[in-house]
Amino acid sequence: MKQIVAILCAAFLISGSIKAAEGMWIPILLQKYNIEEMQELGFKLTAEDIYSVNQASMKDAVVIFGGGCTGELISNEGLLITNHHCGYGAIQSHSSLENDYLTNGFWAMNRDEELTNPGLKATFLRSMKDVTEEVLEGVTEEMTEKERNSVISKNSKAIKDEAIKDTHFTAVLKPFFHGNQYFLFVNEVFTDVRLVGAPPSAIGKFGGDTDNWMWPRHTGDFSLFRIYANADNEPAEYAEENKPYTPKHHFPISMKGVSEGDFTMVFGYPGSTYEYVPSYHIKMITEEVNPTLIDVRTKKLEIMNRYQGADPAVRIKYAAKNASTSNSWKRWIGEIKGLDKLNAIEKKEEQEVAFQKWADASDNDKYKTVLTEYKGIYEEYSKYYITYSYISEMIRRNGMEGVGLSGYFDGLISEIEKDTVDNEVVLSKKEGIVARYQKFFKDYYMPLDKEETAMLLQMYQENIDAKFLPDVYMLINGKYKGDISKYVDMVFEKSIFMNQNTAEAFVNNFSKKSIKKLHKDPAYILLDSFVELAKSDVVDQYKELRSKIMLLDRTYMAGLMEFENDKVFYPDANFTLRVSYGQVSAYEPKDAVQFKHYTTLEGIIEKDNPDIYDYRVPAKLKELHTTKDFGKYEVNGTVPVCFVATNHTTGGNSGSPVVNANGELIGINFDRAWEGVMSDLMYNPEQCRNISLDVRYVLFLIDKFAGASYLLNEMTIIE
Ligand code: ARG
Ligand code: ASP
Repeated sequence: MKQIVAILCAAFLISGSIKAAEGMWIPILLQKYNIEEMQELGFKLTAEDIYSVNQASMKDAVVIFGGGCTGELISNEGLLITNHHCGYGAIQSHSSLENDYLTNGFWAMNRDEELTNPGLKATFLRSMKDVTEEVLEGVTEEMTEKERNSVISKNSKAIKDEAIKDTHFTAVLKPFFHGNQYFLFVNEVFTDVRLVGAPPSAIGKFGGDTDNWMWPRHTGDFSLFRIYANADNEPAEYAEENKPYTPKHHFPISMKGVSEGDFTMVFGYPGSTYEYVPSYHIKMITEEVNPTLIDVRTKKLEIMNRYQGADPAVRIKYAAKNASTSNSWKRWIGEIKGLDKLNAIEKKEEQEVAFQKWADASDNDKYKTVLTEYKGIYEEYSKYYITYSYISEMIRRNGMEGVGLSGYFDGLISEIEKDTVDNEVVLSKKEGIVARYQKFFKDYYMPLDKEETAMLLQMYQENIDAKFLPDVYMLINGKYKGDISKYVDMVFEKSIFMNQNTAEAFVNNFSKKSIKKLHKDPAYILLDSFVELAKSDVVDQYKELRSKIMLLDRTYMAGLMEFENDKVFYPDANFTLRVSYGQVSAYEPKDAVQFKHYTTLEGIIEKDNPDIYDYRVPAKLKELHTTKDFGKYEVNGTVPVCFVATNHTTGGNSGSPVVNANGELIGINFDRAWEGVMSDLMYNPEQCRNISLDVRYVLFLIDKFAGASYLLNEMTIIE
């Protein structure tokens, strides 16, 4: 292990080349590898202040918000801040045309007005530890991957069970450095999380998808929630008598603001990065995968935008679907540009030549063939990778929506087909499906889905290798003579799933006899042909190739760490708590253009345009601007809005606390700048910037815009 993470603190000092910005570091290793450098950059606290199991530390104020974002505690009474786009699902779920919180915002004016969100969780990390030795106990070099994985999963289960025995905690165990190291995480999960406040989308999503992934930015991307606990301050399901949770730590909020060069630290949950992949992977992404997926999403968005533009009800129904479709679509485009500009493939190739030379000269045979093996596999792998991703675009990721409703029956059928049928189980399964249907139809618009279904079937046929065409194309190209829209007309006309009443009635009356009817339903036939395809060839092959690549990744990672044994490596992101540190920093996006490190309210007013949906500034905000009613949030005659810094972040870091040298909250992380989104594969200190909301804009909005200043009283504000 020591060799694997052969990281020498001294390396920083010797080389003098402080790579301050790149890296997502492991909280329990800061003392060993990072703290000196952090302090050189201006950090005034200790590693224990960030992560400790013995005393309250910053980690006690950071949570996983929902399933894929970060949030932080900003009061002693469970008040939590995250991004507007992270709270979006919750805000949307309380919204309707009559009570449109997306459009108008929502502010609880007291605790009774807070809104409950079934299913929403806030997860605290209680402790973490390196368990590599225990996980790998009994693993030998001679084992096949299958044998190895089975030992590892058995060991992991025992480690997790032991760690949370007799507690209400949960345990997560994850591989690091592609399976060269393992860490255990013990968590505490709170399930009563209530909505406290959200600005209108015209603030929280200001600039919309036009400005998404871009700097200069003016989005007030925050929302407020409150965690509730039982009388013992422990997690509990929603109950009226629950009390606001008292965290061990909450972030004090600094009103002092940011200047160029200031130390910044982001503490949150980055999702995934691919920093150590070979050149073949970058080639696959930039030349094949991203272009193909960009294409299909361009078409999806064209359809959604058209219907949403024409009807405000459809706009609300598809708001979250559109945002998530657009988000990766735009990032993929930026990623290609950024990697091209960096000459990422050439850079990787140069590194590979040097690595090969080193491996050839080494006594150890282990690393000699890894790159040639990669090369062979990627040629095959990319075809499967694209097909597999495309199938996801078809049947998940806002693909053929209505058709998907025919796919909920597996559990119910296996129950009904049992020798002795438990009617209660059957009933509860039926209720479960009906509940999902009701949620589904709330946000569904059939004409849009119908057009999209036809488009997807057309695109799939045009873009994917004929050997991956599911059976349904025989029907389309036979009986329907290739007329996809005629075929889709038939599906939408004949299927019982395209109408809420018939779909629900079918579920409620479901019996053994219904199975035949289900199997004859045209939506089922369509969905099933893709599911079958995905189950067969594509997924099996994909999984096999994937597992070969994972083995190569593990070997190559270990090799790279030996090859550059004086370099400090950070593990790829894997949605575990990490520290990224850097500095507030302006940048040059392109030749002759210089961007400042911050934006202000003036930019919002400049962008104001009632004709463009994304740029309609709320009247109240304009009024505050005109009357210069900025209160104590005024800086040089205006209010600061966002700032950029060099922290290395990725998806999942949204909502993360951005803190200053004293550990005080100065911003909420929410995005990255367009020129630097390739940082998931290769970081460029010149161009990679994380975008944060200036916390002073948050306070200004709560106080002056929302009139919810009572919330400020529970915060610790450092003036
Ligand atoms: N790009 C940011 C992130 O990946 C914000 C996404 C939400 N906003 C949007 N306009 N789609 O999450
Ligand atoms: N916007 C992203 C998120 O939601 C953050 C990023 O990709 O930089 O996590």
